[in-house]
Amino acid sequence: MKKIMIVFGTRPEAIKMCPLVNVLKCNNRFDVKVCVTGQHKEMLNQVLKIFNVVPDYNLSIMKDNQTLFDITVNILNKIKEVLNNEKPDIVLVHGDTTTTFVTSLACFYLNIKVGHVEAGLRTYNIKSPFPEEFNRQAVSIISDFNFAPTLTSKKNLLKEGKKKESIYVTGNTAIDALKTTVKKDYSHPIFEWLGNSRMILLTAHRRENIGENLKNIFEAVNNIIATFNDVKVVYPIHLNPVIRKIAHEVFKDNDKIKIIEPLDVLDFHNFMAKSYIILTDSGGIQEEAPSLGKPVLVLRDTTERPEGIKAGTLKLVGTNKNTIYKECKKLLEDISEYNKMSKASNPYGNGTACKKIAKILEDNLK
Ligand code: UD1
Ligand code: UDP
Repeated sequence: MKKIMIVFGTRPEAIKMCPLVNVLKCNNRFDVKVCVTGQHKEMLNQVLKIFNVVPDYNLSIMKDNQTLFDITVNILNKIKEVLNNEKPDIVLVHGDTTTTFVTSLACFYLNIKVGHVEAGLRTYNIKSPFPEEFNRQAVSIISDFNFAPTLTSKKNLLKEGKKKESIYVTGNTAIDALKTTVKKDYSHPIFEWLGNSRMILLTAHRRENIGENLKNIFEAVNNIIATFNDVKVVYPIHLNPVIRKIAHEVFKDNDKIKIIEPLDVLDFHNFMAKSYIILTDSGGIQEEAPSLGKPVLVLRDTTERPEGIKAGTLKLVGTNKNTIYKECKKLLEDISEYNKMSKASNPYGNGTACKKIAKILEDNLK
């Protein structure tokens, strides 16, 4: 029996790894252990609860306003003992967070195999997104199994010299979750508050946007609301206190904006399905929105998800106040522009990524 340890620490990693934990746990060839770093706390627990995943280890490293140094040092110190104790045959990590990078580094130091889920995404701009582009490139140097969501990500890895036998195109495990969450008859008290208004769903949290960029984004949103009577904004706000402070300073008590606590993933997917436009700097939302046919204005200068741009659902608008306002106004006023972006498509597989990964490990993990 092979021992697989799955390590994650933030909300998006949990959303994309919990379905995999549950699939692997059903396979009697594997002894599955889950270690969460606790890089996130409440936002991680929300997801664990939804997927009924109980970690074997929780490094509980989160503290308010944590720096990259805090996260890196604390995980590296604490995970050593867990890995030495369990001696897994492989550790599976996800994507590009500091949890992912540091866990892979620890595995490298201890000569433990690494399987990288959502491998091969690239902007090739090491500063954007920061520090994620570095994190994922660094993991690719170390990883033994690379589970690429699309052919584009596979090609990136091949270009960088990764052996083709180590790369598998599986689709994205995010779609596995999305298949089960969106319900036609879903309702929520906020939908009553919306009435007949069109909903803009807003999320923003990127480290490189904190400060002036975030202020610009929020001011653009204020201008949009002031222009359109029939538009309201719902903003499930990240728990980062710095983001909360800026949001409250710019939005004050605007009664056309609901700033709410982070939603459970089940609720969030249904809010996406109900929205008219999504404004976000998130990575995961860029993958989910094409399936739902929702236009996304991406509040960043670069994206590692060109598939959604190609499909027409995503548009990069950056963080300039006037550009965000102009692009959003265009979508709200011009139905043909809107229709061009709102076609549903799914570049990220058919929701069977977890099963594929399990089979690959069954056949190839020696
Ligand atoms: C992290 C990841 C980012 C990912 C994002 C998903 C890194 C460097 N960043 O960024 O790649 O896109 O998660 O959301 O790995 N907080 C809480 N409770 C929580 C979660 C966060 O209070 O459950 C607060 C804490 O004050 C914490 C702060 O948010 O210090 C920032 O969290 P952190 O994980 O450092 O950064 P994120 O922006 O969430
Ligand atoms: N999400 C959620 N609740 C929210 C906002 C987002 O469950 O209030 C989900 C969303 O559907 C997606 C993931 O969280 O699956 C994206 O996480 P985030 O934006 O925090 O991180 P990123 O993807 O940018 O790393």
